[in-house]
Amino acid sequence: MYKIKGKVMDYKKYIADKIVIDGISKAEIVEAIAVPPNTEMGDYALPCFKFAKILRKPPVQIALSLAGSISSDSVIGQVTALNGYLNFKINKSYLAESTLAEIEKAGAGYGSSAVGKGKTVCIDYSSVNIAKPFHIGHLSTTVLGGALYKIYNFLGYNVVGINHLGDYGTQFGKLICAYKHWGDKQQVEKGGIHAINELYVRFNSEATDQMQAEAREYFRLIESGDSEANEIFGWFKSLTLAYVDKIYNRLGVKFDSYNGESFYLDKMQPVIDELKNKGLLKTSDGAGIVDLEEYGMPPCLILRSDGASLYATRDLAAAYYRKNTYGFYKCLYVVAYQQNLHFKQIFKVLELLGNDWAKDMVHVAYGMVSLEDGAMSTRNGKVVWLEDVINKCVEKAYKVIEDKNPSLENKREIAEKVGVGSVIFGALYNSKIKDIVFSYDKVLSFEGETGVYCQYTCARANSVLQKAGDTAEYSAVCEDKLMSQEYELVKTLAAFPDVVKDAAEKYEPSLIARYAVDLSQKFNKFYFDCKILTAEDGTKRFRLSLTKATKQTLTNALSLLGIGVPEKM
Ligand code: ARG
Repeated sequence: MYKIKGKVMDYKKYIADKIVIDGISKAEIVEAIAVPPNTEMGDYALPCFKFAKILRKPPVQIALSLAGSISSDSVIGQVTALNGYLNFKINKSYLAESTLAEIEKAGAGYGSSAVGKGKTVCIDYSSVNIAKPFHIGHLSTTVLGGALYKIYNFLGYNVVGINHLGDYGTQFGKLICAYKHWGDKQQVEKGGIHAINELYVRFNSEATDQMQAEAREYFRLIESGDSEANEIFGWFKSLTLAYVDKIYNRLGVKFDSYNGESFYLDKMQPVIDELKNKGLLKTSDGAGIVDLEEYGMPPCLILRSDGASLYATRDLAAAYYRKNTYGFYKCLYVVAYQQNLHFKQIFKVLELLGNDWAKDMVHVAYGMVSLEDGAMSTRNGKVVWLEDVINKCVEKAYKVIEDKNPSLENKREIAEKVGVGSVIFGALYNSKIKDIVFSYDKVLSFEGETGVYCQYTCARANSVLQKAGDTAEYSAVCEDKLMSQEYELVKTLAAFPDVVKDAAEKYEPSLIARYAVDLSQKFNKFYFDCKILTAEDGTKRFRLSLTKATKQTLTNALSLLGIGVPEKM
């Protein structure tokens, strides 16, 4: 049984309701109220500087007179003025009770909201290339996009996940040619993407001039709709997708559309026509370009001199298609920073074409991933396949579990959660734009700032709850004065909904990963410093309630990143 007495509270609004400033609306006051980084002076603060002009009084004086006009109550414990700030301290037990009540009520929905209702966000991510290795370089886009997908969904947005497949280009002519010369149906069927990749690598090192010419012809055949060429290509495509799908499942990411580059081949002409009509398409050395010199950028290439389209042309067509099909509020592209210029050009061209929605396109750029031993995604022609990295982490996790807790049930299942979680967390922990060096030992450490540490904390909370037994009574009511460890934990729990919103606004899932570590640290401090199961009755019930709320919030945070939580570890 779980007893709740607290009330759910929007503190900023509650505080704003008590403040009267002539000529300033409540909404403006709510907007101005901030959570100070250092909460020693208060949990919330209203900086009075911006009101000085309207009130023709110095901020220090405004803060002082406001403080005098507001009295504390059961929610607000203290109101003070200092250096032009009006500071509020929330009544600690009130914050604790209302936060725990809210978490209990919302459960798996704690931290969610309806701010995005009626708005659609398109997220272009992972966007693999057919027949090419799905390597460690694809890790960030896949897990960043996957996390953003879940975060926006949690905030009530309608989300469209798009895998903009790299399924168009002259390399596919080469591949068919290589297959025709050296390939074997059974072998390719069995070896899948690895076998296809080998054919491609072999073509690049061994192809004669004669084969190069054949490859061009095969590419032409794909384009002209030749059935045999397209059948082989379609087969390569399905083998690639079957392969990546398995990895997507393990990482917990999904897509609503697999419309890749080839999908836009018949949708480019209207864009080209519009560029012509608006006088934006110029000819330079026989090629069709949009001159962007005025904006400090090299020209955007639209048509090759032989009339063929380019990557940018297909992206322009895709942008129109997405706007027309989904009516997006925002369209995100989770793509490495190497493509900064490409997206700046695309967005500029869309703007020059007079689309006011060009401002809603966002390039969510991220840094490179390399492995600790210096191996990049490509070395001596050898690529580090993402699947191998995941498998290695799962294997290592299995060994650790066997070491620490050999009698655990479902070790394989738990190792999968821990291993996959460690890869995801490792990729999401740092601000996305940073280059990261992936270290197996680091991501699997139980002590560091890792997914494993957070999962372990969850399992620890769970074990406390189990020991308390099903019949234990929890209570959000705190009878005693809160210990600082308890209060720090409560404040962190209360901050979760804002962290989720912030992560969406900044396209930064790392904020949630960091939050999960912070929450784990606060819980562990509470766990080691405060007795839970052996505490006196009322205190015990309150501490169990705190433990349960932590488990829930941590589970919610990790699941937004695509990380599962084992009950036991
Ligand atoms: N397939 C591309 C690559 O691997 C990424 C595509 C990103 N999305 C886009 N709409 N351009 O580089």
